[in-house]
Amino acid sequence: MRAVVLSAYGGPERLEVARLPEPSAPDASGILIRVAAAAVNPVDLQTRAGSHADHSAVRLPMVLGWDVAGTVTAVGRDVVAFRPGDHVVAMSAQMATGRGTYAETVSLPADIAAPAPRSVPLTAAAGLPLAGLTAQQALDALDLPEGATLLVTGAVGSVGGFAVQLAALRGLRVVAQVRRAADADEALALGARDVRVGADPSPVAGPAVDGLLETAGLPRAIGAVRDGGRSVSIVPTRRPAAERGITATVGHVEQDGARLAELAGLVDSGGLRLRTAGEFGFDGAAEAHRSLARGGARGKLLLLP
Ligand SMILES: NC(=O)c1ccc[n+]([C@@H]2O[C@H](COP(=O)([O-])OP(=O)(O)OC[C@H]3O[C@@H](n4cnc5c(N)ncnc54)[C@H](OP(=O)(O)O)[C@@H]3O)[C@@H](O)[C@H]2O)c1
Repeated sequence: MRAVVLSAYGGPERLEVARLPEPSAPDASGILIRVAAAAVNPVDLQTRAGSHADHSAVRLPMVLGWDVAGTVTAVGRDVVAFRPGDHVVAMSAQMATGRGTYAETVSLPADIAAPAPRSVPLTAAAGLPLAGLTAQQALDALDLPEGATLLVTGAVGSVGGFAVQLAALRGLRVVAQVRRAADADEALALGARDVRVGADPSPVAGPAVDGLLETAGLPRAIGAVRDGGRSVSIVPTRRPAAERGITATVGHVEQDGARLAELAGLVDSGGLRLRTAGEFGFDGAAEAHRSLARGGARGKLLLLP
């Protein structure tokens, strides 16, 4: 099969299309997925550059990619949730397991997959798993009551865009921070009640909020949180320090097929909108990485075999 393989850490030019052996038949609890699309995430760029090499057991050469949407082609003997022909989505923690999704076929545990949403093209569904689960799990960790105010930084980014939508569905009053004024309309369309424009929100930028979901690497955003409020950052390298009795934690996304199924259901019920910014073939993987690194993408960049 064809896959996008990384044999040495470095720039986007290190991504090469290569032929690898087909994965063998799935084990008892696994499924084989013929990939319709993988999505490109910041963690793929970081892994490619070698930023995680010190704390990952996965060695070169490796196949990158966490997000996948595709069709089940084989199931292990204990798998009852899926059958060949089913359309599924999954988030594979590539950095921990080495199971990368930039390939024509991937073999994954069945319990990290979920039925793909039926109301959108299968390829677009690849943009859901990692960013959607990250937003959902961070909101769970914040555990704010209905009616509370939540500041989401990077609100029109991948995780931020899902966080705004999911928080609004939970009855939170979302204040969206965006880098450019031109992004304000998009943030409001996602469900934000208010928008703050600028790269560095501070306490003077508006009334204090009950909670912060920090996705843009803006540690000072915690200044916008009221005394005793809550903060979850998903950017460990630039996380806010706790202050004024605020609970400040870091969120790390976890594989979870059951929660992913809930997100797919929200897509089908119209509660959650998927945004695709571009599609690339496997031989365009380097260009897709360059494009994400430039910033400004308003939706997921997809890799199609
Ligand atoms: N801990 C975890 O488990 C986990 C999971 C998922 C993601 N992450 C991390 O979370 C971050 C966001 O991921 P993502 O997929 O949402 O990325 P993304 O789609 O690129 O979104 C990031 C957003 O932040 C904005 N932003 C960046 N720097 C900014 C600044 N200085 N001021 C204002 N806005 C700024 C970007 O705006 P522009 O597009 O205009 O630059 C973009 O809207 C990444 O660092 C990623 O590695 C962590």
